[in-house]
This record gives sequence, C-alpha cells and structure tokens, in this order.
Amino acid sequence: MPSSQDIRCTPNSTIEKVPKMTQAYDRVTVLDHPLVQHKLSILRSSETSSKKFRDLIKEIAIFEGYEATRDLPLVDIEVQTPIARAACKSIKGKKVAIVPILRAGLGMVEGMLELTPAARVGHLGMYRNEETHEPVEYYAKLPEDIAERDVILVDPMLATGGSATAAIAYLRKQGVKSIKLAVIVAAPIGIETVLAADQKVHVYTCAIDEGLNDDAYIVPGLGDAGDRIFGTK
Ligand code: PRP
Ligand code: URA
Repeated sequence: MPSSQDIRCTPNSTIEKVPKMTQAYDRVTVLDHPLVQHKLSILRSSETSSKKFRDLIKEIAIFEGYEATRDLPLVDIEVQTPIARAACKSIKGKKVAIVPILRAGLGMVEGMLELTPAARVGHLGMYRNEETHEPVEYYAKLPEDIAERDVILVDPMLATGGSATAAIAYLRKQGVKSIKLAVIVAAPIGIETVLAADQKVHVYTCAIDEGLNDDAYIVPGLGDAGDRIFGTK
C-alpha cells in the first residue's frame, strides 16, 4: 500500500469539504473507508505518475465492486469441513456485466473483474464535446444477453452527468433492469442529473466534490482521468 508520505494534497485543502445537498441521496453510497480515502488522496495529486494512477484506479475499483455487489443473492449450501458438515452460503449464480464508459472507465474493469471473474464486459464509447460538454456516442458493444444481466457501469468521473445519463439511457433501451453506476469522484450536479434522469440507478462514489469549473471539470477533482490513465497529455 502507498505510504502517507506519497500524499501531496495539503490537509486543509478543499478535498474534505462536502457540499450541501439539495435532496437526500438514498440512492448514493459514498465509500468512506479509510483505505479508499487514503488511495483517493494519492490519486488526486498532480504528482502521481500514470502508472501509479492506473494502479490506484484498479485498487479503488475493487472496493467499489465490493460495495456494488453487496446485495448479490445467496443460496444455502452444505459443505463438509474436515470436522463436520457446515451450513454455508453461495452466490446464486447471478449474471453480472461490467460496462466501462470509454476511455477512462477501462481503468476500472480489471479491479471489478477480480471480484466477479465470471462477469461479461460490454463497452460504451463516449466523449464530451469540449465546447458544449455534451456526450458524443461513438461505440457500443454489449454482451448479447445484456438485458438479463445486472450491470455495473464504471467511469471514474461523474461531472455534468451527461455521459453517465446517456449510457444509462442506452442500457435501459437494451432492456437492462438493474444498473449500478460506480464512479470515483462525483460533482453534486452530476449525481443530481443521473438520479433525476433514471428512477432506479444507484450511484457509488468515493467523494462528492464541490462542483465544476468553467470547462466542466470537477473541482478539486483529479483532472482528466482518461489522459492520466493513458498518459495522453
Ligand atoms: C470523461 C469521464 C466521463 C466524462 C464525465 O470522459 O471519463 O466519461 O468525462 O463528464 P460528464 O459527466 O460531464 O459527462 P471524456 O469525455 O474526457 O473522455 P475520455 O474518457 O475518452 O478521456
Ligand atoms: N472528465 C474528467 O476526466 N475529469 C473531470 O473533472 C471532468 C470530466
């Protein structure tokens, strides 16, 4: 695990501040686990290298997957231990699909698959128009039986909420009933937009930041997640 010396964020920075919410977010889970918050601080630092950034995105995705799979149904089974028979539980063979929003969502796939190795992976390609900040769809490839799967939609950043809202609407059109959105940093407007557009989706995030700047980047955020994962800037 990275040491606390790796953290370059100042302790009294705005990162700790949680904005006032305009509604009760009963469909939002904030991962406040100390290990997650520690990793997130390093992720935010502009001094963190691309390699370390990728590693942290993967590690945090494991925690997000842990939360997002908390309600997987179980069945009772019996197991013979070396001593006696034991009443145990087993996952009820629920079908899961991990769907990253390209590009940045790709960084979270490996971590999610560590927890759900049998999950299928779909891809939705979307980028934000730099002037309008509206999402532009450019690619979609989903498992054939996507409508029968519980989908965990992954993308590290939820800013205006445009990309996630479009992705969720696309999945609903394919007949998907259960969608969980796992992000790492969210702006309040992004959360509100997603919750208002879809009455069922549940959002998992490690932080709710203050807001957006004029370029619709999350403040304080962590910058451009795709560029930091792939080293493109
Ligand atoms: C980023 C991010 C989200 C989107 C969030 O992707 O990964 O998909 O922006 O912004 P929104 O909530 O305002 O829609 P970007 O468009 O930069 O594409 P990239 O992943 O290819 O870098
Ligand atoms: N996309 C990012 O990668 N970062 C932001 O802050 C907003 C959108």
